[in-house]
Amino acid sequence: MKNLNHVYGPWAVVTGASGGIGSAFVRLLAASGFSVILISRRVDAMQTLCAEMATSHPDVETKVIAVDLTSPSMLDSIAEQVSGLNIGLLVNNAGIECSDAFLNMDEASRNQVISVNVTAFTSITHFFGKLFVARNRFDKNKRAGMIFISSVGALGAPFAAVYGASKAFVTNLGMSLRAEWESDRVDLTVIEAGLINTDMADRVEETMGFQKAGLHLMEVNLFVKYAMDAFLARKGRFTPGARNRFQLFVIGLLPQTTKNKIIAATIWKLGSQQRLKYETEAQNVS
Ligand SMILES: NC(=O)c1ccc[n+]([C@@H]2O[C@H](COP(=O)([O-])OP(=O)(O)OC[C@H]3O[C@@H](n4cnc5c(N)ncnc54)[C@H](OP(=O)(O)O)[C@@H]3O)[C@@H](O)[C@H]2O)c1
Repeated sequence: MKNLNHVYGPWAVVTGASGGIGSAFVRLLAASGFSVILISRRVDAMQTLCAEMATSHPDVETKVIAVDLTSPSMLDSIAEQVSGLNIGLLVNNAGIECSDAFLNMDEASRNQVISVNVTAFTSITHFFGKLFVARNRFDKNKRAGMIFISSVGALGAPFAAVYGASKAFVTNLGMSLRAEWESDRVDLTVIEAGLINTDMADRVEETMGFQKAGLHLMEVNLFVKYAMDAFLARKGRFTPGARNRFQLFVIGLLPQTTKNKIIAATIWKLGSQQRLKYETEAQNVS
């Protein structure tokens, strides 16, 4: 992966860089020679990561942009801070989960998921897409790239329905833009992740009553390596992990209604806490 930054760099942007998958991408990109712009809210976590990069990869630069992606001024703030930097790679990763029965979610929490996972995601894509196409039209030797972090939940996710729908949007947007930008040499790969061992998985375990220990969670650095390999192989849509891919393949052979029933039954079985809560509430209503 060395010298990759000459094609897609020298600067890369990672959203959701303060933890989990985003932090692992920052480490991988810095190790590959990219200078990296980190975007998320938690400044301390991003600065600690930058200090680590300064020690482990003193040849690369880092820049922190502390911004709430749901703030109306977020694009102005990002535009101002990236001005003049030659950026050719975006890891569009920031996202939040929801793991609750749809009817238990109030309007604010539903809108928060849509705001981060759909609205901000689209704005960031549009902003950097414009930059990348302009850069590539100016310099015919350049390529640019985007990695969209979606989820296998894009198939449908009962008890995380808004989340699943938001990830279906991410996958669909990515596959369309991949075709739209092909002639402008913007390579786009959608990564549909299974369960990855990050803070998000911890929170889902807590709220849904998943037993993480009994599940096959992928280690985050391995996930990011597979994701990057898929991007470099110019795959359109990829799920890291042979086991995840096999399950998706088998389920993909089934008719849509059967598929949804199986997903619902699996989440129903796994999400013991949500199920109990939902059943108790149903009893109270009747
Ligand atoms: N972990 C999994 O099992 C899994 C599975 C499938 C897909 N994914 C997807 O992978 C991506 C990363 O998830 P993760 O597991 O790494 O979760 P994570 O550890 O919770 O990280 C989420 C990142 O998004 C940032 N973020 C959230 N809301 C934000 C906001 N309003 N403004 C700016 N930044 C915001 C967070 O930073 P701050 O809090 O500092 O703002 C954090 O850096 C998400 O899109 C998620 O849907 C994860």
